[in-house]
Amino acid sequence: MALKQSEIDRHDRSTHLPAVRDSARRKAVANDAKSDANSRAASDLPSRPPLKWAGGKRWLLPHLSSIWQSHSFRRYVEPFCGGLAVPLGLRPANALLNDINQHLINFYTQLQRGLELEIAMKNDEQSFYRRRTRFNQLIKKGKSQSAEAAQLFYYLNRTGFNGLCRFNQSGEFNVPFGTHRSITYATTFAPFRAALAHWKFTSADFSALEIDDDDFIYADPPYDVEFTTYSTGGFSWEDQVRTAESLAAHRGPVILSNQATARIVKLYKKLGFRIAYLAGPRRISCTGDRTAAKEVLAAKGLN
Ligand SMILES: C[S@@+](CC[C@H](N)C(=O)[O-])C[C@H]1O[C@@H](n2cnc3c(N)ncnc32)[C@H](O)[C@@H]1O
Repeated sequence: MALKQSEIDRHDRSTHLPAVRDSARRKAVANDAKSDANSRAASDLPSRPPLKWAGGKRWLLPHLSSIWQSHSFRRYVEPFCGGLAVPLGLRPANALLNDINQHLINFYTQLQRGLELEIAMKNDEQSFYRRRTRFNQLIKKGKSQSAEAAQLFYYLNRTGFNGLCRFNQSGEFNVPFGTHRSITYATTFAPFRAALAHWKFTSADFSALEIDDDDFIYADPPYDVEFTTYSTGGFSWEDQVRTAESLAAHRGPVILSNQATARIVKLYKKLGFRIAYLAGPRRISCTGDRTAAKEVLAAKGLN
């Protein structure tokens, strides 16, 4: 059965409340206290995530927040959390956020510890390549999980080409300078420290996550690129299938977003998910075409 657009938009708290397990009730009470602290922090929160991140889903927030409202007593789990656009928009009291990119997760855990910017933020080519070299030295010396590495990661993300995060075969960050006309760098991360305080961050393959039956999962894996076995991001069709199968095995609510390729739609339909289609943000293809990509939201266990 297809999930209608109106159904996504119309999730009503009173009529769609799911049967709540005891553990979820206990969590809900514990969450109330965190929630107060979080909403205080959230009121100071900048509307944009701190990093630029490929595939950021800020544009999806209006759709997701109406669904989340009926589930906000649950723990929010995002196995492919990337730039945090969704949790920073939904502001769950309790969250488990994971990404395989350990530099990204180091940045977030350093934000939780009160990361301060001690290096000068300069949008200049020479500074960029000097800092890139320093970042790679830290990786080589086994110091990639430090506060200095987190500051450099922020600087390289904002100053490098398109916010890309790419490493060569020797594990060196190799994104070139971005030639942005001007960049607004953060001067403080204090509002993010407060907002992230009660969230748990991990860096592993999504299959290693310890998920509870009553968790709410929003999964946004790398896009499926049709007609290839291996996508450029290193996330293969096999990875898409094991993602779908592990999401299908979850007993609580799950939402998946991905590019609406025929094989993704077929896979999630076969696993019993309800499907809705959305027009994604406009992207420029290699031919200069600016048409919006068709995206899919696949849902299961929402009520
Ligand atoms: C489309 S992005 C997520 C974007 C995020 N929803 C946002 O709004 O910024 C996909 C993320 O999956 C991560 N990833 C790729 N393979 C993974 C794996 N096997 N396990 C966990 N995370 C993975 C990538 O590092 C990337 O940050």
